[in-house]
Amino acid sequence: MGSVIVELQRNSTNWAKAVGEIVKMERKIFPKHESLANFFSEELKKKNSGLLYLELDGEVVGYVMYSWPSSLFASITKLAVRDNYRKQGHGEALLKAAIEKCRSRKVHRISLHVDPLRTPAMSLYKKLGFQVEDLIEGYYSPGRDAYKMYLEFDSE
Ligand SMILES: CC(C)(COP(=O)(O)OP(=O)(O)OC[C@H]1O[C@@H](n2cnc3c(N)ncnc32)[C@H](O)[C@@H]1OP(=O)(O)O)[C@@H](O)C(=O)NCCC(=O)NCCS
Repeated sequence: MGSVIVELQRNSTNWAKAVGEIVKMERKIFPKHESLANFFSEELKKKNSGLLYLELDGEVVGYVMYSWPSSLFASITKLAVRDNYRKQGHGEALLKAAIEKCRSRKVHRISLHVDPLRTPAMSLYKKLGFQVEDLIEGYYSPGRDAYKMYLEFDSE
């Protein structure tokens, strides 16, 4: 079957199944205070947010979440690939797809926060052109900082 990137649609029949699988991954991958698991569905009901997930042979193996709070910028709010499926290009494919979604909203920049200790994520964001803007101390929790990163589009 191979892999396919799917945009989660609010009224689709696979909503519950996909969200269920994503929430399970979210719980496994992220520490509790950083995990959106509990208000995932709420977050996704917001008008200006979207989620893409990667399905491999019918199984959800990764997802990326994004939002566009204004016409000026968008944010990548989550990106994760299931443990056993990492280092195969899925994270990059998801991030690229989310960047395209944001671009199509005509925003000028995409920003995100990342824990500097998350080396794979940091490398991936840099690979796709994100630059560090700022270090925000205690962003995730006391003692756990975040880099704020951004990707700017040429205005055409
Ligand atoms: C970050 C994450 C999504 C990457 O997914 P992935 O599918 O393994 O990434 P890819 O295979 O597409 O790798 C793309 C690029 O990411 C970087 N990268 C991925 N894994 C890496 C690792 N273990 N060490 C260093 N760089 C890494 C590299 O730049 C790589 O490009 P390359 O293959 O040309 O070297 C995955 O590691 C993950 O889910 N981590 C836990 C959750 C997380 O930290 N999310 C981000 C914060 S919200």
